[in-house]
Amino acid sequence: MANYETILIERHDAVTLVRLNRPQALNALNSRVLAELIDVMGAYDADPDQRCLVLTGSEKAFAAGADIKEMSSQGFADMYGSNFFAGWEKVTATRKPWIAAVAGYALGGGCEVAMMADFIIAADTAKFGQPEIKLGVSPGMGGSQRLTRAIGKAKAMEMCLTGRMMDAQEAERSGLVARVAPAAELIDEALKTAKTIADMPPLAAIANKEMVNAAFETGLAQGIVFERRLFHGLFGTEDQSEGMAAFVEKRPGAWKGK
Ligand code: CAA
Repeated sequence: MANYETILIERHDAVTLVRLNRPQALNALNSRVLAELIDVMGAYDADPDQRCLVLTGSEKAFAAGADIKEMSSQGFADMYGSNFFAGWEKVTATRKPWIAAVAGYALGGGCEVAMMADFIIAADTAKFGQPEIKLGVSPGMGGSQRLTRAIGKAKAMEMCLTGRMMDAQEAERSGLVARVAPAAELIDEALKTAKTIADMPPLAAIANKEMVNAAFETGLAQGIVFERRLFHGLFGTEDQSEGMAAFVEKRPGAWKGK
């Protein structure tokens, strides 16, 4: 898929910047957006020159949810039969690191996609919410699970049951976002952070991501064994020898991705 209709892509050296671009619908996530994101994330994973990715929206909306107009006439048999939203698992299968840079609304599926990222950097204008209950439905792209793990049961339950929005400051206090930046600096901040990650040894970046996700997705004992095995595995890479030699020799490391 070469011509994207709903996203824009910029390359900043080893960092890919992806902008959701459906301004007429506040970046509502329809099937086309999903297909294009699956394509772009797959291409990113396969490109050894790209080391980190930033997903963002507009100043007004990261994404105002799944596309309600696309879903409104669907029934149970349509949704269950097509396993609607299952394609998002291909986005979360991205192995390399990616960051969500959120300004404005991140509601419903928008909040859920932001939470699929490895972490969120929020503009001070960001507003997070799971308002699906107001439409007679619920989160369907992992929001009830990821939000609860991120901010705990009390706040997640309150947000899902009331549909209220959480501002950037509360989101930072609650552990939903890594950091808040002034809106005008959001993209620069996200690109700067992405560059820091892009400069890291690439295999160690994937391994660090996998083990933090294991803490999120498995029990503690299982997660600790998983971490230790991946840690041992990194001692089979040239970048480990180089990284430790560079430290001892007081010079920057030169990474090979091997
Ligand atoms: N789906 C489809 N279209 C959407 C949309 C969505 N989720 N959100 C906004 N739009 C469209 C509006 O229909 C409107 O289009 P028209 O000009 O053609 O009428 C356009 O975007 C601009 O939106 P508003 O005029 O509503 O803008 P506003 O500034 O007055 O309000 C808002 C902004 C509070 C975000 C409001 O648009 C809103 O409440 N949006 C819906 C939020 C929502 O319920 N999200 C959850 C969706 S369900 C879901 O995500 C399920 C899941 O688990 C994945």
